[in-house]
Amino acid sequence: MTRAVIRSTGRYLPPRILTNETLSEWMDTSDEWIQKRTGIQQRHWIPEEGDVGASDLGYEAAVVALQRAGWRADELDLILFATLSPDLFFPGSGCLLQRRLGLRETPALDIRQQCTGFLYGMTTADAYIRSGLARRILLVGAEVHSTGLDISTRGRDVAVIFGDGAAAVCIEGVSADDDVGVLASALHADGTYAESLMVEAPASRFNPRINENMLRQGRQYPVMDGRNIFKLAVHRLPEVTAEVLQKAEVGLDQVDLFIPHQANLRINQAFEKTLNLPEGKVFHNIQRYGNTTAASIPLALDEAWEQGRIGPGGTVVFLGLGAGVTWGAVIHRFPDA
Ligand code: UT7
Repeated sequence: MTRAVIRSTGRYLPPRILTNETLSEWMDTSDEWIQKRTGIQQRHWIPEEGDVGASDLGYEAAVVALQRAGWRADELDLILFATLSPDLFFPGSGCLLQRRLGLRETPALDIRQQCTGFLYGMTTADAYIRSGLARRILLVGAEVHSTGLDISTRGRDVAVIFGDGAAAVCIEGVSADDDVGVLASALHADGTYAESLMVEAPASRFNPRINENMLRQGRQYPVMDGRNIFKLAVHRLPEVTAEVLQKAEVGLDQVDLFIPHQANLRINQAFEKTLNLPEGKVFHNIQRYGNTTAASIPLALDEAWEQGRIGPGGTVVFLGLGAGVTWGAVIHRFPDA
């Protein structure tokens, strides 16, 4: 059987670091509030000067992942690009990345599933590989949030959370009798909550898509019903984890590491508690990066691998919930060395 196996990872964080103290100079917030409510100590933002988009950050991460896999870009059968902050309204950031990789024909597909972009991307890659449509896939998650945040007190509940960054994985179809690669995935969406986390404008439903009045009202900035999203996450994440483990016929104690989307340290600690997981089974790095949305899970995987928290033969569960709302989980086993 052909299995979709993660061969390598790579990450890129722009070098500019924003501390909670700096944010406190711009809006009515404090290091204490941010750390207590979210766990975040700092985040990376793109430089103030210069046009840097999601595809530029994604490119840097992709180069690392490709080099670690030992693949040339022209050996790719497909590029998947997950982001909620595309460089342009259209065309997709995947096409811009494809161009920067020097490719002229390789298909590129954008995934607009926000915090679960990596989960939808892994599942799409798995389907392409199992069906024989592709053998080598590059999946990138990249975000530039900083250019779209309301950094006044009006936007403080959202602005303190998000960070810029990118991460990439190379996924390969391999023939294997063993249970390796993507073992199962579970994806869900509930559009009832579409307005609970959104950027309203510019949008095709408005003519013109944005106007001066809307800009004055701040409708170009993300808005979030934080409490509601929080409650949904705490409820849905353990549920979808149980679902994916059951599909894969893998027990909770056979999982070496859980890598949740990094939205709020308290959400992930609640997940840890609900599942009664022993210390060290859930990976956290939101403290240093904030919420990097589609980049957060592959970024955490890249660090977890580097730190030896997951390695050859290891079983990992990726999970998350975010705008849409969408939520899901993917279970993946790395082949033995
Ligand atoms: O990745 C996408 C998915 N997103 C999530 O999963 C996010 C889920 N939600 C959350 O992480 C949390 O709801 C937040 C971190 C956004 C907010 O934390 P909270 O504990 O739910 O706070 P809250 O919204 O209930 O607000 C509590 C108070 C309010 O003041 P009052 O009404 O009690 O006077 C807010 O106005 O905190 C105030 N507040 C702030 N104060 C200082 C909101 N943001 C800030 C801030 N600094 N940045």
